[in-house]
This record gives sequence, structure tokens and C-alpha cells, in this order.
Amino acid sequence: TKVAVLISGTGTNLQALMEQVKKPSSSAEIVVVISNRPGVMGLKRASMAGIQTRVVDHKLYGSRAEFDGTIDKVLEEFGVELVCLAGFMRILTGPFVRKWSGKMLNIHPSLLPSFKGVNAQKQALQAGVRVTGCTVHFVAEEVDAGAIVVQEAVPILVTDTEESLSERIREAEHRAFPAALELVASGGLKLRDDGRIVWNQSV
Ligand code: GRF
Repeated sequence: TKVAVLISGTGTNLQALMEQVKKPSSSAEIVVVISNRPGVMGLKRASMAGIQTRVVDHKLYGSRAEFDGTIDKVLEEFGVELVCLAGFMRILTGPFVRKWSGKMLNIHPSLLPSFKGVNAQKQALQAGVRVTGCTVHFVAEEVDAGAIVVQEAVPILVTDTEESLSERIREAEHRAFPAALELVASGGLKLRDDGRIVWNQSV
């Protein structure tokens, strides 16, 4: 399965996905990495791994639709079949999300549906929950609300700060995202038209 990874920054999730697809057992190949911001660390990681990169700078576009349209052109240029949003900090428009429905995954640093939106790690700390985690889900038009593919729970320690908790969640992300990528890329799991998850027992 030809995969595109969309990033906005550091790219530690990208790094985990690149390491996953190098395994002989992997059903996925990352064919392009797209960033909405130039010069970020994730672009260097991709180049070091010999993966083609593109920058589509959202500041250069007059509308979200035009930005998404350019992203879509790059995806078509590379024959992409599956999109992974890995720390991609842009909201995508309805038409784009609908086109890639069932073929686009996102990672969120909480156990959705709890703590949607930004600062999910901080929201969990402030809510006083003892367990949080990360979620890989199909991207739907409603933000952070698509069908869930993989989750991993993470304990919150009494000594935790936003930083220490975020680091522990990121370690879980680096296991959850590769697992979710393989499930979808191998056809083991897919999104049904009614928005429910279907497991392919025969795989
Ligand atoms: C992660 O915390 C992820 O949950 C969120 O953005 C961050 C991405 O980090 N979507 P990185 O760029 O993959 O290191």
C-alpha cells in the first residue's frame, strides 16, 4: 500500500512509521512526506531515509480549499492509497476528508472521545484522570471523531507534568500508529460506508 505521511513539525511519529515500513512483513511503503511548514525536523528525517518530500505552505494559499486541493494533487501524483496525519496541525475541508474517507488516519494524544482538541495531555492532567493514552482513528469531517482503529492506555503519575505525560503518550503513539498503519494497509481492518469498523477475519 502506497502511503503518504503529512507532518507539521518534529516528526517522531513519522520516524516510527518509517521504521515500521522497513520491516519485511510490512504491507506499506511510504512514497512521500508532505509538510505544511518548511524546514521542520520531520522533513530532514524523511530525506535521511531517502523518502521524497514536498512542502505545501498553507500561508501561500488564499483558502483551505486551495491548500487541500494542492495536497490532493501531490497525493495523486504519487499514487497514494493511504494518508497518515502525523502531527499534522491543519484542519482539512469536508470535500477532501470525504474523498479520503476510509483512507486517512490521524493520531491524537488522548483516549478519544475524551479530551478532543488541542492540549489533550493538559486536559487529562487537569481533569484528574488516572489513565489517558493515544488514539489512531480514521479522519472524519468532525474533528477528532472518526472511527477508532487502535488505542493504547497510559497511566498518569502523581509526579507528572504536561511534559512528562506527553513524553509517555508519545512513546505509546510510536507503537499505536505503526500497528494501525499495518492493520489498514494489510486490509485487516477497514471502514464501512456507515462509518463502522469492519475486521477482515480471513487476514
Ligand atoms: C503528537 O503528540 C501527536 O499526538 C500530535 O502531534 C504530536 C506529533 O508529534 N498529533 P511528532 O511531530 O510526530 O513528533
